[in-house]
Amino acid sequence: MTDLNPVLKISNLSHRFSSGTLAIDNINLQIHLNDFLIISGPNGSGKSVLMKHLNGLLKPTSGEVTLSGENIQKNLQKTRQEIGLVFQDADSQIVGQTVERDTAFGPENLRLKREEINRRVDRALTDVDLLHKRKERPHILSGGEKRRLAIGGVLAMDSNILIFDEPFSNLDYPGVKNVLQQIITLHKKGHTIIIITHDLGKVLAHGNKLVIMNKGKILHCGSPKDLLCHLEDCGIKRPDEESIEKMTWLK
Ligand SMILES: Nc1ncnc2c1ncn2[C@@H]1O[C@H](COP(=O)(O)OP(=O)(O)OP(=O)(O)O)[C@@H](O)[C@H]1O
Ligand SMILES: [Mg+2]
Repeated sequence: MTDLNPVLKISNLSHRFSSGTLAIDNINLQIHLNDFLIISGPNGSGKSVLMKHLNGLLKPTSGEVTLSGENIQKNLQKTRQEIGLVFQDADSQIVGQTVERDTAFGPENLRLKREEINRRVDRALTDVDLLHKRKERPHILSGGEKRRLAIGGVLAMDSNILIFDEPFSNLDYPGVKNVLQQIITLHKKGHTIIIITHDLGKVLAHGNKLVIMNKGKILHCGSPKDLLCHLEDCGIKRPDEESIEKMTWLK
């Protein structure tokens, strides 16, 4: 990779809620084009709050996040086009009256032509295997289907950077395989991927960078292979030996 400039740069970022909780405590992190970054850490360590800073949903108490060198708060429309988020809570992401209206919502905000919107909706719903539910109301979908719908929504946006917060929770085995395959394909197509998860066994083999958070701080940042020995100490389940052995980065 010749481009050494980070696409996303987090500098001295802190976030204190009005309740007094210091959720993010002076974080510095650089994310490069086509990184496959995994963020892990115990409950309440600040992962989801950090994610919301990465597309400007929260304003820092101090510090900043830049996208290609520009503060992301300056142009929120561009930020949200470039960076797609799939939330931990899939219900909070539903905006449309039907599955297809929901998926069309993002591209409509980009003011694309109707033909292009329809093309993107068809493609995204096919990719997440929800085309047959296109006329359904999103709220009747199962938990796993809602998550796939949320992923379809960001696929339809064609964002360069995709952030997934606990993408495997609530999914059955075929659901996990489907979502993981989607994410790997997107990475191969050149997208930058950020996955927040406790479930390292499923993704560690694909990540080039692992961040371990605790109490709002980054405890470790490095290659997954190098950080394996720190997982248990940091309250994260170490993937079992069999899945570690199968991981290509260990060979
Ligand atoms: N809107 C809010 N107001 C006040 N405190 C909040 C708010 N959102 C999050 N927090 C607090 O910030 C801290 C970090 O929360 P966050 O949701 O980022 O944790 P997490 O690492 O994503 O945890 P989990 O693994 O359970 O999803 C927690 O102590 C949480 O209680
Ligand atoms: Mg969270």
